[in-house]
Amino acid sequence: MKFHPGLGGPTPLYDSLLRLAQANTLQLNMPGHHGKPLAVEGLWPSALDFTENGSTGDLFGSGGDAIEEAEQLWAKAVGMDQCLFLTGGSTQGVHTGLALLAGIGGHVALDRGSHRSAYNALGLLDLTPHYLPRPWLEEEGVTGPIQPETVEDTLRHHPEIKTICITSPTYYGVLSDLPAIGAVCRRHGARLMVDGAHGAHLPFLGYTGYQAADVVVLSAHKTLAAPGQSALLLARGMDMDTLRQVGSVYGSSSPSYVMMAALDVVRAHMEGAGGLAYRQAAQRTDRLRLRYPSLRPAGLELDPTRLVLCCGDGDRLAASLREQGVYPEMSDVGHVVLILTGADTDRDEARLCQALEQCWQPGTPRRCPPPPPPPPQVLTPRQALFAPRRRVAWEACAGQVAAVQLAPYPPGIPVVAPGEKLEKKHLVYLEEMGYNVQCTDVVLPSWEVGATQYIKGDDL
Ligand SMILES: Cc1ncc(COP(=O)(O)O)c(C=O)c1O
Repeated sequence: MKFHPGLGGPTPLYDSLLRLAQANTLQLNMPGHHGKPLAVEGLWPSALDFTENGSTGDLFGSGGDAIEEAEQLWAKAVGMDQCLFLTGGSTQGVHTGLALLAGIGGHVALDRGSHRSAYNALGLLDLTPHYLPRPWLEEEGVTGPIQPETVEDTLRHHPEIKTICITSPTYYGVLSDLPAIGAVCRRHGARLMVDGAHGAHLPFLGYTGYQAADVVVLSAHKTLAAPGQSALLLARGMDMDTLRQVGSVYGSSSPSYVMMAALDVVRAHMEGAGGLAYRQAAQRTDRLRLRYPSLRPAGLELDPTRLVLCCGDGDRLAASLREQGVYPEMSDVGHVVLILTGADTDRDEARLCQALEQCWQPGTPRRCPPPPPPPPQVLTPRQALFAPRRRVAWEACAGQVAAVQLAPYPPGIPVVAPGEKLEKKHLVYLEEMGYNVQCTDVVLPSWEVGATQYIKGDDL
């Protein structure tokens, strides 16, 4: 094994990433910089990699002038009052946001299509979920937006709910009508949290929907040119000390200054040349949507830069693209999802088209059936999260209580959530959707409610 000059040991991860970086691939996935440098002088990781030293500020202390000013500029860019920088991704933001709005032991109306960070937050905060279903778009084979009427109905029947948490846009780029949902929440005295992990670029394309929320979480690393894990929590009418204190519960006490500096730079970039580059990315997405069968549901608002190709076998198309060095973000049985950003060029578009011409197979996009209604919840999310668990073969799962989410794409929502009883019909649906698992984690049947010891399968 060859060591790099000056190093006394092997570097397998660094080497494998270096090989990939030098392989001339086209990255149409996360992070949003797509492997290209941001044209700004001096963003040099080790030179900027400080700790709290008296002049650099303190994210979870008083902030410090420079951090606070940079956060304020972000809040202004999104049209919110406060901003907290996050270095633990939207995961940290979702945990912080739910802790701020719902506290401990409250009731939450939760988008059933939420990311697992929200399901984990239910467990950590001992929240009671009331799931908000999404309509199934039969023709497109994906879920549609959360309907304001669904939120209205849930709040009317459950006045104990004071927090609504929905994801917008979805992984497939579907936006919900946030101003209408926000108005419903205000009428019922509830607060709206939006997981906008996939939408950090949208405010710079003129989108104002996030301003209807009390808390918004954005992953800068997913669609902007920021490094992995850099994210933001934006809020309205909250006290900055409280944001910092609650955010610190879920964050490292050594938040990366390189990531925070990148958050500062990408915002400024989006206010200049970056904004234009993303508008061009939206035009590119439009062109590609016209050229290839793509997700374009009539009457629905979509992220203008999310390209979702509809095809007979999405997983096969994605594999063929990867063989040609083009990396999509995600695929499922009938779709390939590509994240287009301001880092892409006309040459990249030509390369993508060339690769698609090589492997596109005409065929009707595969229709996916809607998921069955959720199974009965027999343990609370908290009980399920911390319950001793064991791994059982897929064939033996029916009748057991899930310890993890079972969430194929599509529908991109958990068919089974932690604490719910696995029924035969859910297993059959998951198999039909090509959810290829040999085994899954279930809660130990003998587990007594109240125990919190986590036991691995091997220890049984
Ligand atoms: C909708 C949604 N929310 C939250 C997250 C968590 O984001 P992060 O990876 O920045 O922690 C993800 C990650 O994919 C996501 O898709």
